[in-house]
Amino acid sequence: MKKRIRTVRVDLADRGYDVVVGHGAASELAALLPSSSRRAAVVTQAGIQRNVDTGLTTEVFTIGTGEEHKSLETIGELCEGFARMGITRNDVIIGVGGGMVTDVAGFAAASWHRGTPVVHVSTTLLGMVDAAIGGKTGVNLRAGKNLVGAFWQPSGVICDLDALATLPPREMRCGLGEMAKYHFLTGDDLLAMELVDRIATCVQIKADIVAGDEREGGRRALLNYGHTLAHALEIESKFGLAHGEAVAIGLIYAAHLAHVLGRIDGRRVDDHYRVVGGRYELDTRLPDVDPSHLIALMGRDKKALDGLTFVLDGADGVEVVANVDPEAVSEALSVMAAHRP
Ligand SMILES: NC(=O)c1ccc[n+]([C@@H]2O[C@H](COP(=O)([O-])OP(=O)(O)OC[C@H]3O[C@@H](n4cnc5c(N)ncnc54)[C@H](O)[C@@H]3O)[C@@H](O)[C@H]2O)c1
Repeated sequence: MKKRIRTVRVDLADRGYDVVVGHGAASELAALLPSSSRRAAVVTQAGIQRNVDTGLTTEVFTIGTGEEHKSLETIGELCEGFARMGITRNDVIIGVGGGMVTDVAGFAAASWHRGTPVVHVSTTLLGMVDAAIGGKTGVNLRAGKNLVGAFWQPSGVICDLDALATLPPREMRCGLGEMAKYHFLTGDDLLAMELVDRIATCVQIKADIVAGDEREGGRRALLNYGHTLAHALEIESKFGLAHGEAVAIGLIYAAHLAHVLGRIDGRRVDDHYRVVGGRYELDTRLPDVDPSHLIALMGRDKKALDGLTFVLDGADGVEVVANVDPEAVSEALSVMAAHRP
């Protein structure tokens, strides 16, 4: 049977680009590279298969694994390597990996010579449906995650589903957490689709939102559905809970909070359990942590410009809600802790 490849356009005028999704999509890489490129700097990690054929003079830079390597030190080392290699603004940087690699490669590309083209070859489910699309790049500081970064759109993105064959189950679950989020943003029954269509649909949803709000002045913030509690849980668990796992729990919490605030009824809360816990088979239980810690951490969220801020479901769909009453936030945590789906 012929393998189906789908191409989704991220429509950003002169910065628009194609995302190529499918089994064997990596064979399309050369077509996405800028025609001016003579050299390619491939940024990746150990353990990731790099079946990337650039047709250019290529050097591979392997960065460390784990969020502690998503750092300014790593950016410095990469840029020293680009200097040795003689990478110019006509050349290309290629990130081959999950969200960590594409965030780092993207930020190195944004910084190198004040902006060098970057192409992402995403190798995790989370990267394909989220991190590699939309041009957010950055690194962590000791003070927090993703605090230094830039918007730098790639020239193209490859989502080769063959890469998922080697992805550990836990990383797969993390991608499913983000996928469950898309389920509530559009109501599409993603799980009824073939994998290639499922991933292409998630890419399309993100592409549409990014095209309408590249720098997160409005609608793009909806992509943070489930993320306010998720970020707090990640920090409180010292990242023992992975991002996608925390998002799954955050989606359920957002439903409880919307219910406490009278925005949705109990049936809609049950829908969240059915989708996240039932169909995506993700853990929905609130870990046993001090609620006051979580509330303090949620107050420090990057979105919290105006009091406690959440993305919440309601009669008009999912929207950003600022200045949420701390008592409701606390009550929803208690209700969720006591809930037996
Ligand atoms: N820029 C954005 O819009 C955006 C959005 C969401 C998340 N992120 C960032 O993405 C990062 C998380 O990304 P992630 O979930 O992809 O994790 P990751 O990039 O840290 O990868 C997880 C692990 O899987 C390994 N791996 C990657 N591909 C593999 C494959 N095909 N086979 C086997 N192992 C493989 C990696 O080496 C790593 O050890 C975080 O740093 C987060 O901040 C960015």
